[in-house]
Amino acid sequence: MLLEINQITRYFGGLCALAHVSFGIESGSVHGLIGPNGAGKTTLINILSGITPATSGNLRLGGRQIETFPAHKVAALGVARTFQNIRLFPALTCLENVIAGQHLVASRPLLPRLMCLPGARRQEETYQKQSLEILVRVGLGDRANLPAQHLSYGERRRLEIARALASRPRLLLLDEPVAGMRRQEMLGVAELIRSLANEGMTILLIEHNMAFVMELCSQITVLNFGSVITTGRPADVGMHPEVIEAYLGKTDHYA
Ligand SMILES: Nc1ncnc2c1ncn2[C@@H]1O[C@H](COP(=O)(O)OP(=O)(O)OP(=O)(O)O)[C@@H](O)[C@H]1O
Ligand SMILES: [Mg+2]
Repeated sequence: MLLEINQITRYFGGLCALAHVSFGIESGSVHGLIGPNGAGKTTLINILSGITPATSGNLRLGGRQIETFPAHKVAALGVARTFQNIRLFPALTCLENVIAGQHLVASRPLLPRLMCLPGARRQEETYQKQSLEILVRVGLGDRANLPAQHLSYGERRRLEIARALASRPRLLLLDEPVAGMRRQEMLGVAELIRSLANEGMTILLIEHNMAFVMELCSQITVLNFGSVITTGRPADVGMHPEVIEAYLGKTDHYA
């Protein structure tokens, strides 16, 4: 297991958003995290990425205990995420947004970079080149010099993914990456997720579109009211009576 989530609980005042959540994410897999609105999915990703502390419980990444680590330290260990409510720099270009993602884990000290010393300049050129490659990979190669605020909604979601990829994570946490996308765009993101996993990246995918999740994930964890109903293979999870009940009446298809 790359990540072991063990008995994670989170209270917001008197509200229990997560109650003793435990499951593991296998290295190189695409693991789905589903559940109705308010189930605690985003809260869990916030905890995994070090943005929100857990009230109790522990997390092991590659065998290392990380539940007390702040966000920058978790990022440095190779965990990157996208946000459900897209968080980009609207006035910066797409390329600059991705480069900002690389600087999150930049190894070189800031001063030589600010002084534009030759070594630092070469490093910046490498960042630029790599960032452009990532933009091409998410299908935004022709948007590199466009400010993020001019992108369509779906394009912004893809730029979020590109920014997260810039830090070359080993664990990528995607919070509803295809929400609001058209079918064709969705298929493109599915293909991207598949290819990243084939390269060995581990992916935790939150998504309401069941067909999308079922097709991509090898394991799915279902949350409801902060508790895990079940973790298992898509076919088994889809037949689980409590899962069917939690989703009763929902008929999600590719839009
Ligand atoms: N910062 C916070 N302060 C107080 N309550 C919060 C906070 N963040 C989340 N909650 C509550 O915790 C519960 C879980 O919220 P969360 O956003 O994790 O759900 P979710 O599964 O991501 O839902 P959705 O599918 O709508 O995105 C909800 O009841 C929510 O109102
Ligand atoms: Mg959410």
